[in-house]
Amino acid sequence: MSDHNAPNDGSTGHEWDGIRELTNKAPSWWAFGFYAGLTFVTCYYIIYPSTPMNNKIQEVVNGVTGMEVLVDGHTKGIMAMVSSNPYYQGETWTQSEINALEAKGHSELTIKAGDLKYQDGWTAINEMRDDVAEIEAVRADSMAKLETMSVDEILADDDMRQFALGRSIVLFGDNCAACHASGGQGNLNAKHPGNSFPNLTDDDWLFGGWTAKIQETITDGREAAMPPKGGNEDLTDANVDTLTAFVMALSTGEAVLEVNEDDEGVLAKGAGSFAAANELFQETCAGCHSANAKGSMLNGDFDTGAVNLTDGIWRFGGDMATIRDTIINGREARMPTFSERLDETSIKILTVRVHEMGGGMAAEPEFE
Ligand code: HEC
Ligand code: HEC
Repeated sequence: MSDHNAPNDGSTGHEWDGIRELTNKAPSWWAFGFYAGLTFVTCYYIIYPSTPMNNKIQEVVNGVTGMEVLVDGHTKGIMAMVSSNPYYQGETWTQSEINALEAKGHSELTIKAGDLKYQDGWTAINEMRDDVAEIEAVRADSMAKLETMSVDEILADDDMRQFALGRSIVLFGDNCAACHASGGQGNLNAKHPGNSFPNLTDDDWLFGGWTAKIQETITDGREAAMPPKGGNEDLTDANVDTLTAFVMALSTGEAVLEVNEDDEGVLAKGAGSFAAANELFQETCAGCHSANAKGSMLNGDFDTGAVNLTDGIWRFGGDMATIRDTIINGREARMPTFSERLDETSIKILTVRVHEMGGGMAAEPEFE
């Protein structure tokens, strides 16, 4: 039981079942922490926005508009005096916005047209808003400048080039990465070769890799088609096998084609093994892939998209079975048109990106 007579023995006189309550002081480290905490809280309370007020209206407006802070949403603290939020101070409620809120059933609103929309002074959110607004202002200037520049001018101006590359990341991710992969490295789909997408980071181009051509590709899209058997119904299975082996040999350098004075493709290497194959090739395939098998682009035709067969870089796959499948069944592929989905500036930004991915050509190549 407790005993209420305070004895002079350093205890309060409280005792429960032999356990006494002593009058010892709290340890000084503890007392220090306690008073420091109190001081901190008091200072914080005075300096920073703290006590919420007008909660009900704030919640209503938050719920409707998604805005976090309303004027008089809480006490402002000294920070409101030493810091201002230049970009948001000016935003006020308009009567039509208030009417819209009331139309949604919020009849208890006390805000009036002309009231500030955001808590004036310093809040963490206002500070962030100011930072964002500042960046946006800089961006808006650069975006306006981009609109007036050609892709080549952007590439020549290092600041603008960097700016465009920065802006291109999200654009590329949203519009292109699904097919060309996030780094633009393309996708060679071994299981479904028809669903392969070209690598944009190498210097192997189907339709031309200087800025005007890249911009054209993105704006208007591309369609390339390899007809079954190259369009020659008369090719037998044996012919296809011969051509498959020849394509393989061209890619490894075992067979090398050169164009002679009469514009005929003749074997500079491998004539012994591939004479018959080359005859088939020149007859059926050279029309698109060219007499030297280097593809349409390297021979000055930037529309057909017939790939270079001599470089060992594959659009659909370079194993025997895939090559054979390509020749027998043909291939069709389409790069979608972006002229309606993206504005011109976005297409310019993406052109800069594709050009700078590694394989951009300086200018249209010259052909004799
Ligand atoms: C639906 C899939 C798909 C999307 C999305 C797509 N592409 Fe393509 N792209 C292709 C295909 C397929 C080709 C090859 C066309 C062909 O072989 O006919 C291609 C070709 C290209 C080429 C030509 C490459 C060369 O070697 O000449 C460029 C450049 C290109 N794409 C850029 C882009 C950019 C930039 C975007 C985003 C704005 C994009 N692509 C979005 C499928 C796509
Ligand atoms: C009408 C034009 C045309 C003819 C004729 C043609 N090709 Fe093609 N070939 C193409 C095009 C275009 C492509 C690329 C298809 C695409 O990107 O959609 C292609 C792709 C290929 C590929 C795929 C290469 C890779 O990197 O995966 C092979 C192999 C090929 N052709 C071999 C041949 C052979 C062999 C012949 C002759 C029997 C032939 N082509 C005739 C237009 C043609």
